Amino acid sequence: MCGIVGYVGERNSLDVLMGGLRRLEYRGYDSAGVAVVGDEGDLEFAKRAGKLQVLADELERHPVHRGGTGIGHTRWATHGGPTDRNAHPHLGDEGRLALIHNGIIENFSELKEELLSRGATFESETDTEVAAVLLGERYRETGDLREAFRLTVARLEGAFTLLAVHRDEPGLVVGARRNSPLVIGLGDGENFLGSDVAAFVEFTKRAVAIGQDQIVAITADGVTVTDFDGAVVEVEPFDVAWDASAAEKGGWSSFMRKEVSEQPEAVANTIRGRVVDGVVSIPELDGFGDDELRDIRRITVIACGTAAYAGMVAKYAIEQWARVPVEVELSHEFRYRDPVIDAHTLVVSISQSGETMDTLMAVKYAREQGARTISVCNTQGATIPRESDAVVYTHAGPEVAVASTKAFVAQITALYLFGLHLARVRGTLAEGELAEHLAELQAIPEKIETVLEQGDRVGELAHWMSDTRSVLFLGRHVGYPIAMEGALKLKELAYIHAEGFAAGELKHGPIALIEPGQPVFVVVPSPRGSANLHPKVVSNIQEIRARGARVIAIAEAGDAAVLPFADEVIRIPLAAPLFEPLLAVVPLQIFAMELSQAKGLDVDQPRNLAKSVTVE
Ligand code: F6R
Repeated sequence: MCGIVGYVGERNSLDVLMGGLRRLEYRGYDSAGVAVVGDEGDLEFAKRAGKLQVLADELERHPVHRGGTGIGHTRWATHGGPTDRNAHPHLGDEGRLALIHNGIIENFSELKEELLSRGATFESETDTEVAAVLLGERYRETGDLREAFRLTVARLEGAFTLLAVHRDEPGLVVGARRNSPLVIGLGDGENFLGSDVAAFVEFTKRAVAIGQDQIVAITADGVTVTDFDGAVVEVEPFDVAWDASAAEKGGWSSFMRKEVSEQPEAVANTIRGRVVDGVVSIPELDGFGDDELRDIRRITVIACGTAAYAGMVAKYAIEQWARVPVEVELSHEFRYRDPVIDAHTLVVSISQSGETMDTLMAVKYAREQGARTISVCNTQGATIPRESDAVVYTHAGPEVAVASTKAFVAQITALYLFGLHLARVRGTLAEGELAEHLAELQAIPEKIETVLEQGDRVGELAHWMSDTRSVLFLGRHVGYPIAMEGALKLKELAYIHAEGFAAGELKHGPIALIEPGQPVFVVVPSPRGSANLHPKVVSNIQEIRARGARVIAIAEAGDAAVLPFADEVIRIPLAAPLFEPLLAVVPLQIFAMELSQAKGLDVDQPRNLAKSVTVE
């Protein structure tokens, strides 16, 4: 939540900041602002409520001067509504310093009282301005931005990434992080800061992830990282695997359309390098000895939203293959219920951003309770992997559209690889079975291509249904989480009421919702599945059809049993039942995306949402 960018170097910092903010806008888009320290040692700023374009238009009308030092912010409002005044940067030291913030300063009321009692005044309703004013006070006492910043940060509680500049110290940006992300981009004669690497990957691929409770100071020539007490911390740079172009629209009408189409690649890249001589191999898990993996008695998956649905899909596969119980829990519920965890519990977190605060806190809690932790994450240098014992990266590439698509299929892929690895180590699958499942997984990218070819048909369906007020989704077994994911996509992209149910639950209540014309998507299990679920779901279709539902079936190629009862059938290629979710989800994503566009909505940045939810 909130995107942050900082720059020091030879370039016009405003260009770097606006480019970085454009790539970070998915993190929050309520308002945006920049502050630039001019080469003459003056500070100018601009900030506006609304999307980044509103700020860009304002800068066009009233340009700020050139300067090689600056900070920029794109906001997802927490304290104080999305107004011009509440937009960042906030000023301190009578306008001589500017500060931006991501997170929530929990003790801001108490600090504000203290500052008010000393005669301070405030322009906004934000917690951030309190930090800016406090920094101004400390600067007046110390005359040193680094020291003043350290003293200020020491007083703050909660979650924060802060960046600040002072007009009397051009060529310096200071930053700090606690429970919120901040990454350094190492350039040649220039340095960058960003909420994630997308902010600066256009200029450098050398990066350093700043650790918990650390402070950074960047100048054009160097970078210093210290802890909150001022002790210097050694840093370990890494190379960003993404290409700058990966975070660009590249001719697509929306990021979401681009990302939906990139799903074959997302799956293939997540598998790449992890199958050696026909055997799954995940070097990132080398820290987990085979004995330890054999010793696991339970796996708890923690995640939120779409990532949690990926976990629910994987539960079926991991239990079936590795014969270990798997429970999936929403991260924000997990640590508040005194869960039973011990050294034999493996906690697997799933997070595209690697920054979701609920999941981060749940991982920390699990470790405190003695569990071993693995993170499945799409973002290098993010916090959750750093806080986990091991990380299995999904290689979906940057996901910019706020609603998750390609990260979801990559998460399932990574979890399936993990499940097969576990099954091999635990000896629960024979070699032939392992090879068969791997071959199924490796065939998925091509099959997704085939599903994507039906995009136009799904699009037509969405256009016909653009006046729909409510859509239901049914699924069973691995189709159940897919039904919920289909409903989530429709809610967040098209603002349509949608619910996903387990088809078997229908008669226990939800069937009362069926009335003539009610659209219902049904994810139909393969007729080749061993559990004989197919006829049961076909019966469910008949039951709702008899009550007037309009049925859209997602069914495998050749499944003729659904034809007499479905109004529309969207075909997916044949795949083993556990692998069907990777195909069945695609038309549901396309449907939600097309419906959003048919309603004239912003498919990349739906209202009220942000890509990276870094507050609880
Ligand atoms: C829905 C969506 C969210 C995220 C959730 C977790 O389309 O994107 O539900 O899946 O906020 O985010 P990460 O994976 O970054 O932890």
